[in-house]
Amino acid sequence: MTSNAAPIVVIDSGLGGLTVVRCLQKQSPAENIVYFGDTARVPYGSKSAPTVAGFVREIITYLQRYRPKHVVIACNTATALALPVIKTEFPHLSISGVIEPGARAAIQAAGNKPAPRIAVIATQATINSQAYEQAICRRRHHAILDARATPLLVPIIEEGRDEKDILVRLALTQYLKPIARLHPDVLLLGCTHYPVYKRLIARMMGQNCQVIDSAQQSAQDVTHRLRVSGGSAPGEGAGYLKCFVTDDAVKFQSLAIRFLGTEIQPPTLVTLEELTEPRILRLAPMRQAS
Ligand code: DGL
Repeated sequence: MTSNAAPIVVIDSGLGGLTVVRCLQKQSPAENIVYFGDTARVPYGSKSAPTVAGFVREIITYLQRYRPKHVVIACNTATALALPVIKTEFPHLSISGVIEPGARAAIQAAGNKPAPRIAVIATQATINSQAYEQAICRRRHHAILDARATPLLVPIIEEGRDEKDILVRLALTQYLKPIARLHPDVLLLGCTHYPVYKRLIARMMGQNCQVIDSAQQSAQDVTHRLRVSGGSAPGEGAGYLKCFVTDDAVKFQSLAIRFLGTEIQPPTLVTLEELTEPRILRLAPMRQAS
């Protein structure tokens, strides 16, 4: 049994999941949050499903010591590639992802159009998984989908380049021009990193295209789950935000404000050795026995 004051764990490959934290803090300010950015292994979007599932498994195993009342995989790539398997491996934990809420948001934004054009940009792995196509078509099978990988964006964002940066503008122009030519009704940002460029992307897509992201819906989804299960945090005061990273805590702290809108306390560095320690310990007796 976890208490209502127990934290919500939010996981991403790096800074992107902070967009979900920002919405969570707005909607449910009293909630305590433990954030984990796997900065030593970002990007996840160019890696295989077993590799990403392995990373998520290690992170959740490590964070179980905080007895979370809910875990949000605030990374589209990890949700697409690992959520089903991770749910079966941690049946005692309440775990959600960002793809289903993102698909819901896209469909809501498309309104009543009989065959809305919905474009999705995401990492290569998310696009290859077809997770968004499936989630959207399950709800609106007449939607006309255009899903494209935009793999340069996550490394550019993790480098801390802002909207004024020439490289950012060049990359976005290259990626968005062919999409804009098809005049989509909705462009879904299928990666939790991308909302930092949302204003610029919206300007480039023009006013007839709604640009949406899954952060808002994912946070709403968590708030709703906790309310329904009676697990919302007690009291009115602001909850804590504790951040963990696997590399360069100083850089993470300096860039976090762009995603959150507020400063964070210095993150705790968890080395990859510490992260994988439980597995080594479990393996040790077997080695002795042979
Ligand atoms: N924020 C992650 C996502 O939503 C980034 C993926 C990556 O690390 O490549 O997909």
